[in-house]
Amino acid sequence: MKRHLYSIFIFCLSLLSLNIWSQSKGKPISENLIGIFFEDLNYAADGGLYAEMIQNRSFEYTPSDVNWGKNPHNNWYYFTAWDLVRDYAAIATISLETNQPIHPNNPHYLVFNALTRGEKGVGLRNNGYDGIVVRKGEKYDFSVFLRLISGSEIPVKIQLTDNKKQIIAEADITAYSDKWKKHAVTLTPIADADTASLVILFQKEGKIAIDMVSLFPQNTFKNRPNGLRKDLAQVIADLEPSFVRFPGGCLAHGDGLDNIYNWKRTIGPIEQRLEDKNIWNYRQSFGLGYFEYFQFCEDIGAMPIPVIAAGVSCQNSARTRGTGQECIPMEHMHDYIQDILDLIEYANGPSTSTWGNKRAEAGHPEPFNLEYIGIGNEDKITPEFQERFRMICEAIQEKYPEIKLIGTSGPFDAGEDFELGWQISRDLNVAAVDEHYYKDAGWFLNNQYRYDNYPRTGPKVYLGEYASWGNHCYNALSEAVYMTGLERNGDIVEFASYAPLLGRLGNTQWNPDLIYFDGKGVYPTVNYYVQKLFSVNRGNLYFDEVITHKDKENRGIASSCVQNDKTGDVILKFVNTTDQVTRMNVDMKPFKKVKSKAVLTVMTGNKDARNTREEPNNIIPKESEFKVSKKFYYDLPPYSVSLIKIKTR
Ligand code: AHR
Repeated sequence: MKRHLYSIFIFCLSLLSLNIWSQSKGKPISENLIGIFFEDLNYAADGGLYAEMIQNRSFEYTPSDVNWGKNPHNNWYYFTAWDLVRDYAAIATISLETNQPIHPNNPHYLVFNALTRGEKGVGLRNNGYDGIVVRKGEKYDFSVFLRLISGSEIPVKIQLTDNKKQIIAEADITAYSDKWKKHAVTLTPIADADTASLVILFQKEGKIAIDMVSLFPQNTFKNRPNGLRKDLAQVIADLEPSFVRFPGGCLAHGDGLDNIYNWKRTIGPIEQRLEDKNIWNYRQSFGLGYFEYFQFCEDIGAMPIPVIAAGVSCQNSARTRGTGQECIPMEHMHDYIQDILDLIEYANGPSTSTWGNKRAEAGHPEPFNLEYIGIGNEDKITPEFQERFRMICEAIQEKYPEIKLIGTSGPFDAGEDFELGWQISRDLNVAAVDEHYYKDAGWFLNNQYRYDNYPRTGPKVYLGEYASWGNHCYNALSEAVYMTGLERNGDIVEFASYAPLLGRLGNTQWNPDLIYFDGKGVYPTVNYYVQKLFSVNRGNLYFDEVITHKDKENRGIASSCVQNDKTGDVILKFVNTTDQVTRMNVDMKPFKKVKSKAVLTVMTGNKDARNTREEPNNIIPKESEFKVSKKFYYDLPPYSVSLIKIKTR
């Protein structure tokens, strides 16, 4: 009873303070409110952000990479993406071998037996992901591991050829060692090509083992070796996300126990990383691994938020919708928890510590300043989950009390898992709870006040995955309406990230996505521009009652007023999902001074329109000058989001 009264007291106090904040100094908004969620889904990592251009570089694809649904890779096998290159006079055989790999984690390799070399040599071709895109004059680093099995030295030509098989870049290497030896050379194409191939041509008879064939643009994001595709990384960086949640999603808790994402397999030399199937029906090379994730976060000034499985796999594992959750046996939980503690040491420990030292060896002696870890991803909150979740949280809280934990609340916005997930997170006093929901546009309009009545005590909200079902202008506008609600509740909603982030055109397993791309370019959606508008125009204080309009009950119209108290800038955001111009009245009463010259940004278009590869700039924000005063109005166009940025100092 006492506890109950105390909660009521705290609740009233928070309501009162909310009121005081809103009327005078503004209500605090989380400085971490907008971030991103990166999952290797839709070829987001391999064939996407990870700049490697060779598909199946280590001959590890297997027919069993497919987990669910109709098999999209009927011919998927160890030599997928590879072809034999020979002329009429050449005779060669290829075989898959495992008896002397570069490293036990990388078991398969190709053995090429050139019996006759033909006229120009005999060898292999790789077409990358839907063809390799190269640009004239750019530099591309080729590397390969070779081991001579029979014969003496073998000269090898490394070429890039265009779609007419014309050579556009060429270099020579010589295989000479009967031990695995890495060879590297730089290729500089003399012409652009959108569907180039990499060709490896042996110039002499002999038998040779081949593995880890790689082609990387030198021009990666921040020029990182083993780095990220520059154009894609830049579009993500332009969102100015406060945090990056990674590596999943369902990918994190995996398709069955043996597919739970194991961070330790993703660090160290790339030829020693243990590849795995991907829950999304393809393969993960882990070339983009934990080191690269942490480094990317640092490069874009975002906080890393890794998500680790809560000792259970995805409930949809093994093609079993909802009931396929597998649990790590109790006798193995100690080791599993130790791996998580080691991850924290890898991120934050001194370079003299075991795992901190591995980070230093990778070139980063300074810590990565990990603050948060997500435990679980929209799991079914079974008793087995609860037991393991509790063990993991308690172990981290004991060893690393400074690390903040994020719980999980199932795959939906409400229901049993949602309630149980929140309850156990409250019991364990974690910092935030991860909510996920994918809904139609109407839901986002109708639920824009969802967080207005959330308790102001206990864990904060991390809206880790949300999206309206579509990339049409109307979907994006419904998300914008919802985001005004996130700003209004920025005291309790600590983080929010749209999902999924990336989708390679022609290779998506989930739509809609925020950013589409192919080998040639990047095509941000209207939803992307909404995220960007809200992210780069943030405030840390929220003000009620600055914006009013007559049609108060209309949920298709929304607004927010925030201020960045460091710069003094006030940002007004207006969203109209209706077909009527709506007059928005602004009273800048809370702000002493208002400079008349303001900047207006408007994004508007047909409600059913989208940005596409063919018309990527169909709907994008446009800026103009706008005059304001202490009191003014703004006629908000139909189907639009508008921002007015006002200087108050
Ligand atoms: O974002 C796509 C998927 O949606 C995530 O992997 C999962 O967490 C959710 O079901």
